Amino acid sequence: MCGIIAYIGDQPALPRLVEGLRRMEYRGYDSAGVALVYEDSLWVRKDVGRVDNLARAVEGGPGALMGIAHTRWATHGGITQPNAHPHLDGEQRIAVVHNGIIENMNALKAQLQADGVVFRSETDTEIFAHLIRKHYTGDPREAVCAAVKHVRGTYGLAVMFADHPNVIVAARNGSPLVIGLGDGETILASDPQAIVAHTRRVIYLRDREVAVISRDGANVQLVDGSSVGHEIELLDNEYDLAEKGGFAHFMLKEIHEQSESIERALRGRIQVDDGNAKLGGLEMSPRDLRAVARVVCIGCGTSYHAGLTAALAIEDLARVPARAEIASEFRHRHPIVPPDAAFFAISQSGETADTLGAVQEVMLKGGDVHGVVNVVGSTIARTCGKGVYVYSGPEIAVASTKAFTSQVTALLVFTLMLARTRNLSFEQGQRVARHLVGVPDKVREYLADPGPISAAAELVANARYVQFLGRGYSYPVALEGALKLKEIAYIPCEGYPAGEMKHGPIAMLEEGTPVIMVAPRGSQRDKAISNLREVQARGAKVILVHSAGDDELRDMAEISIPVPQTAEFVSPLLTVIPLQLLSYEVALRLGRDIDKPRNLAKSVTVE
Ligand code: AGP
Repeated sequence: MCGIIAYIGDQPALPRLVEGLRRMEYRGYDSAGVALVYEDSLWVRKDVGRVDNLARAVEGGPGALMGIAHTRWATHGGITQPNAHPHLDGEQRIAVVHNGIIENMNALKAQLQADGVVFRSETDTEIFAHLIRKHYTGDPREAVCAAVKHVRGTYGLAVMFADHPNVIVAARNGSPLVIGLGDGETILASDPQAIVAHTRRVIYLRDREVAVISRDGANVQLVDGSSVGHEIELLDNEYDLAEKGGFAHFMLKEIHEQSESIERALRGRIQVDDGNAKLGGLEMSPRDLRAVARVVCIGCGTSYHAGLTAALAIEDLARVPARAEIASEFRHRHPIVPPDAAFFAISQSGETADTLGAVQEVMLKGGDVHGVVNVVGSTIARTCGKGVYVYSGPEIAVASTKAFTSQVTALLVFTLMLARTRNLSFEQGQRVARHLVGVPDKVREYLADPGPISAAAELVANARYVQFLGRGYSYPVALEGALKLKEIAYIPCEGYPAGEMKHGPIAMLEEGTPVIMVAPRGSQRDKAISNLREVQARGAKVILVHSAGDDELRDMAEISIPVPQTAEFVSPLLTVIPLQLLSYEVALRLGRDIDKPRNLAKSVTVE
């Protein structure tokens, strides 16, 4: 979603700003822009489309030593040049870039218009430019503080004044900003990825804080002027610059990293000899675990699917009632938050607004909420204050792959801990632990020989509609497979519980419709066979993901993709991978922009 980068230092700002924008491209955007303070005035360029376009347009631009830049993902107003950031005040002396949403936009806009302000865009951000101008009497910090006091909503802001070529003012409320402290330069960004090439020493701004940034560092205060203390933190190694490493796309690279990323999610956490596990960040003793009466996993998109998978395992192995909730629904429906429930907020980015909103709602109601997060130091991780990092490493492709398997893995580790405080014996615990530590090798084995993905992609690429089916543990996998195909190949499809399919979606099947059936060995396999026959009887062509060695099932489908045999509760970690590869192959055939699919953002920081 939107990205902010600002630079002030002893080097030309423009190349650094453009490079920072490129580092944030993976987040998703539809327009980009930059502003510099140069020779006592503002120099601004912005347009719709890729950062590459902007880079060409600003080539040979001024060598100014400070500037702000932005990638926009449209919320208020269409994808147009006037709506792209930066936005300026009427006199073109103040430039603003903004992430977030002004909720009282209409009221503020009406007041400003009544004062005679003429708006040049449809955005909410432009309000900031005019509002700051209205309160500006010569002090940049005071003007920004006075302006934000009128705003209801979320913002990460960077503001520049033509009158003040030595400072940039940043303000945060609900939308992340991090300040990188370099040698003779300071860089502000909404994403550490845009900073790490220059410095690892950072300050994470907190809500309601305003920073005055100069080439020598940052002075941070609360909006009301009171002082705050900030430790300088060091960016983790996980922020090392993301490269494709010989793969054509980040998505393909990330799919192939899954044996290592699952290994990292397990490392130091499983005690096979004790038949148990330990998650340090969880802060739960066996007594606390024993007191958990139910588990609620909350997330969006792929992270929700990870929650669905985990909930099945928790009920299955620990016999504790568990369910998954879509964060955007949960947070707004006045949910019940029982004091004896353990809540997990699952998020790759740790910045998803809906998941963060759900976390805040649980906390407000006195609930116990833990983060299951990939990005270290992200807002959800910080807000929860306890939980599990999944350590999948930076996920750059918009379509999530390795984060899913790492999230599921981390939650299965929790499941083992929970189950051992209940009905799982020492020997059973050892078996579960062995199955978990065996997963990375099985993933490696599968990826070395992924089966007839090309033939399956051929069938799917020309389809008007595709159905993904699975039962039990394979149902969330079917949902995830369908989500991937929609996201990057834009093919109409849906995931369904295989047994429920005959109650409606079976009507969608016609001669040649591809149906992707996920049916590894396990309690649901035989039932899946009946469903397979039902869809074939309607002319559907079945692409079957099954356990290696299950020859009976293999011979029933048009295309069969074997995955290594595993225990049922870890099967999603294997069966999801052919579906990830399939959507990748289909998108490749259709010439889609695989790592940056249309309309999508990597971290969805608006409601
Ligand atoms: C996954 O492929 C999607 N890009 C999307 O559904 C994503 O999982 C969702 O937006 C949640 O993101 P998060 O894990 O960063 O919170």
